[in-house]
Amino acid sequence: MKKVYITMNIPEIAEKLLKEEFEVVVNTDNKFLSKEALIQLGCEYDAILSALTNIFDEDILSKCTKTKIFANYAVGFNNFDIDYIKENSIIVTNTPGVLSDTTAETAISLLFAVSRRVVEADRFVREGKWEGFSPKLLLGKDIYNKTLGIIGAGRIGHRFAEKLRGFHMKILYHNRERDLCFEKSFNAEYCELDDLLKRSDIVTIHVPLTEKTRYMITKKEIDLMKDDAILINTSRGSVIKEEDLIEALENKKIYGAGLDVFEDEPNINSRFFELNNTVLLPHIGSASKETREMMATIAAKNIIRVLKGGEPINLVY
Ligand code: DGY
Repeated sequence: MKKVYITMNIPEIAEKLLKEEFEVVVNTDNKFLSKEALIQLGCEYDAILSALTNIFDEDILSKCTKTKIFANYAVGFNNFDIDYIKENSIIVTNTPGVLSDTTAETAISLLFAVSRRVVEADRFVREGKWEGFSPKLLLGKDIYNKTLGIIGAGRIGHRFAEKLRGFHMKILYHNRERDLCFEKSFNAEYCELDDLLKRSDIVTIHVPLTEKTRYMITKKEIDLMKDDAILINTSRGSVIKEEDLIEALENKKIYGAGLDVFEDEPNINSRFFELNNTVLLPHIGSASKETREMMATIAAKNIIRVLKGGEPINLVY
């Protein structure tokens, strides 16, 4: 019987589907899998259902002699050495589509949390500081009629724009390529990155992490932003140079930031904890019950197809 290893405790549906056909082992405690452990799994299991915290570099992949498919439990797949998988036609799949709405909703919740100081206000109440209605208490910023800059108008960026339709925003976007359909649907204007940063009141990032997008936002880019701009990131932490962002937030160079992702997860730079103008989430962009189940189903289906001699549905390359 073919063997499948699931590297994290994901929704049971994956195990259930896979168990109908294969022997399945789940890392139910989410225990850390070292490089050696990943290599061993790759020599023992026909398929690995991996998570974004499992780093498969060239060295590891070249030693995973048995594994026919790596089904990554995420839409992002920057935890794999992309050049190596391309050159060696290694089957890696992801979970696109099903998490776009949920991730866009997370980005929007961050936007409102920052603009209307929701977390700060909640803390204020809990700390017993509220003495009664006060006209100037915790004033925030409106979102409607503002200029929204979307960096990466793919599936998630698209959903973000769609959900904010009622807020009558001017939409700018920056993408690898122009997307005429996106422009038409949202009356959106394509901009170079610098131009978008200069003109937007809100900047939201929805790009995959690649060598091109790593540190796409550094001090140089932040300096172009408006003083009262809000930056939202639900993509990958390393798209932003975190030190530069922290400095800008400390110096109130921008209004605030909402972050679901960080450069060195789960380690968070402790300077963030001092910042009232920043809302921090523990990488929960796609974390709704429904979506996480759909992701588990897709990952399992890709494995079933490949181990039964078929083509994967969501090959990343
Ligand atoms: C992804 O899918 O890439 C998210 O970051 C995790 O759901």
